[in-house]
Amino acid sequence: MSRGKYAVRVCFLAMLWIPLNSYADGQGLTGRWSAYGKELWSGDRERAIFVLNQKGTAITGTFESLTGKTNVKGTVTGDHFEIFAWDPKSPSFVGQLVNGQMHGTMFGRSFVARPAQPQDEFPKLRYIKPPRLRHVPYNGLAKTPPMGWNSWNYFGEDVNEADIRAAADALVSSGMRDAGYVYLNIDGTWQGHRDSQGNLLPNKKFTDIKALADYVHSKGLKIGIYSSPGPVDCAGYPTSYGHEKQDAKTFAKWGVDYLKWDWCSAEKIYPDKHIRAVYQKMGDALLATGRPIVFSLCEYGKANVATWGADVGGNLWRTTDDIRDNWESMMANIEKQAPSAPFAGPGHWNDPDMLEIGNGGMTSDEYRTHMSLWALAAAPLIAGNNLQKLSEDTKSILLNKEVIAVDQDPLGKQATPIRNGNLEMWVKPMADGGAVVGVVNLGSSTLPATVRIGDLRLRGNPTHARDLWAHQEVEFTDGAYTADVSTHAPLLVRVFAKGADQ
Ligand code: GLA
Repeated sequence: MSRGKYAVRVCFLAMLWIPLNSYADGQGLTGRWSAYGKELWSGDRERAIFVLNQKGTAITGTFESLTGKTNVKGTVTGDHFEIFAWDPKSPSFVGQLVNGQMHGTMFGRSFVARPAQPQDEFPKLRYIKPPRLRHVPYNGLAKTPPMGWNSWNYFGEDVNEADIRAAADALVSSGMRDAGYVYLNIDGTWQGHRDSQGNLLPNKKFTDIKALADYVHSKGLKIGIYSSPGPVDCAGYPTSYGHEKQDAKTFAKWGVDYLKWDWCSAEKIYPDKHIRAVYQKMGDALLATGRPIVFSLCEYGKANVATWGADVGGNLWRTTDDIRDNWESMMANIEKQAPSAPFAGPGHWNDPDMLEIGNGGMTSDEYRTHMSLWALAAAPLIAGNNLQKLSEDTKSILLNKEVIAVDQDPLGKQATPIRNGNLEMWVKPMADGGAVVGVVNLGSSTLPATVRIGDLRLRGNPTHARDLWAHQEVEFTDGAYTADVSTHAPLLVRVFAKGADQ
């Protein structure tokens, strides 16, 4: 056979082979794909890499962006694919194979993926060794658990400067500021790119953070911001890796009063044993600015954070994964942080994540339980609801002054559960020598709950007691008080006392 004929035949076979391999033998999506899309996300999230393996109509594999990597699975029907990543019920990526490229939508926005080339790989970041461990001095803040509002639970990524200004106005007009909710915290997705000097700038959703901070301050509020020790936050927006000191200075210059420092993509750089040192680096950087800035650690309870959170200058630290607006998630978060109770106290608090009260996924009774348990646990009260549509019911929960006073008690003790079963009971010692007892009905029907004075380990002499949701005095008879508690509702009783032995 002449070379020419051979070449033609190979070429012809290859033409046949490509479509065969692409579609008919059920392997068309197998491979490493580089996905691009204009304004898919912000910044570096404009691209991502799929590694897929197709067997027949089934696809398995991974999806990786600078934020992290996740397993995916899906199906192919003809040329059409549906790939599920984070939600097993709704596909994250949908599209079809066209001429050897994946054309689809990712979270509703268009992308094209082609076979990955070496230049598509994510850059390897220089490893910056974290500092040696030391004790960062206390910044004197958060003597009681911080209270405020954060954009994430309601807005997610769709938050902009106008939303924050409107939130500031609403915190004032709703009475929330005067009830103590003073920190107005912008969560992730405000960040844009860095300028030629490496200064982090807001993206186009936010024009001027300093002007925004001035506005928030003019309302008698404080402003919080968000970044990460990794290169991007959990939603893919640029963060502070390698720029920690510079960003701390920027935040101070803007007038920021609170920083949420979210682990996110730092997990791709540092091993868990370095988490403490990585957080210490920012604790030191904040202190060095000379501005009082509450330091909120968000690393989901990794590496026993409660045991060292205060040593890195932390005023609060998340103890759990993200809360969701449902009963199971809320109860799981609060129960998981019970063992960390000894580490909470004035200046440094366990954080079972922000409030979902008013977001619609739970009943009013469940939201009252949410508020009661967070107050008993001396947890930060950072609301996360739509402040433009505050129902009377939501207001009656978030603005319950008697419950807020439990959370803000200066003794700063975190309640611990003293009885399990369908009627879970938590007791929190109070500064006056009294205590607050919370009973939550985990069952599916109304149950009578009995609270005994003996359970409360009072340190003072009891004077009177109040039901903090009914807003009325209650009487203990022979050292006991009994009330009916509806399903998933709380009973919250405060016994006041005098003459506490502190
Ligand atoms: C993580 C945090 C959340 C929120 C998001 C933002 O999931 O735990 O509280 O800040 O990141 O991307």
